[in-house]
Amino acid sequence: MKIIETIAEMKAIRIKLKEPIGFVPTMGYLHEGHLSLVGKAKAENKSVVVSIYVNPAQFAPTEDLSKYPRNLKRDLAMLEQEGTDIVFFPADKEMYPEGYDTWVTVDKLTKPLEGNFRPTHFRGVTTIVNKLFNIVQPDNAYFGQKDAQQALVIKKMAKELDMNLNVIVCPTVREPDGLAMSSRNVYLTPEQRKSAPALYKSLILAKDLFSHGERNTTNILEQMTAIIQKEPLANIDYISIADTETLEELHTIKKSALVSMAVRYGNTRLIDNLILGE
Ligand code: PAJ
Repeated sequence: MKIIETIAEMKAIRIKLKEPIGFVPTMGYLHEGHLSLVGKAKAENKSVVVSIYVNPAQFAPTEDLSKYPRNLKRDLAMLEQEGTDIVFFPADKEMYPEGYDTWVTVDKLTKPLEGNFRPTHFRGVTTIVNKLFNIVQPDNAYFGQKDAQQALVIKKMAKELDMNLNVIVCPTVREPDGLAMSSRNVYLTPEQRKSAPALYKSLILAKDLFSHGERNTTNILEQMTAIIQKEPLANIDYISIADTETLEELHTIKKSALVSMAVRYGNTRLIDNLILGE
């Protein structure tokens, strides 16, 4: 496994890699969710590139950039174990040199849900992912369903900008009690951690109601909200039942829907989602 820190070196080594190339962009502090993407990339490609870069552009000034968890040594050991060929680990000055001024935005799809609470977030994500795609030039890029809106936004960007790669979305990996794995789960206090599976419980309730024929989203949202509100430590940012492609809110579910939510425990913001009618 090679660790590459500059764009020039990454581009030089790219030419020598066996194709197809699978790529997994991450911000590090890896867990089984990230490794499931690496495993899929390994199974479907001849070479695997993983990037580790905590992208300042996708954090608002009030967010957790400076204290975002990092452990490069542990990450590298995990990636080596998974059979990763290249780890791209660039510095800020490499990705955003002095005077950097170019941004990529997906417009309407980034407005609701996460975009409503994090208005500058997706511009940072699409810009860095675009840059990483240009540097690594993968055939296949792997993203998690855990970040449902991000996956949709990147798929749309790749399609609409005619990028020559496939965006592959992989299932959410969960802890045994249902909590979606996230690098941010380490911020939770023991009490908050105990309460956090409430998100998944509310999603499972939505699934049960849907499978018993409920199609009215107001009824489903009410019962989901009640489950979360039973938790004194939890504060709901939003719970949404939306179209799986446009992310427009639905009153009635026809074939399918994306049920998604963001819930804060203190300063820690957890997101989770599930697709109904898959
Ligand atoms: P990060 O949060 O490190 O996540 C990297 C990838 O792992 C994303 O595609 C995310 O959806 C996926 N992932 C995270 N938790 C998961 C879980 N429990 N199960 C399955 N997949 C999971 O998402 C980002 O980084 C950044 O926004 C990035 C795309 C790297 C751009 O900076």
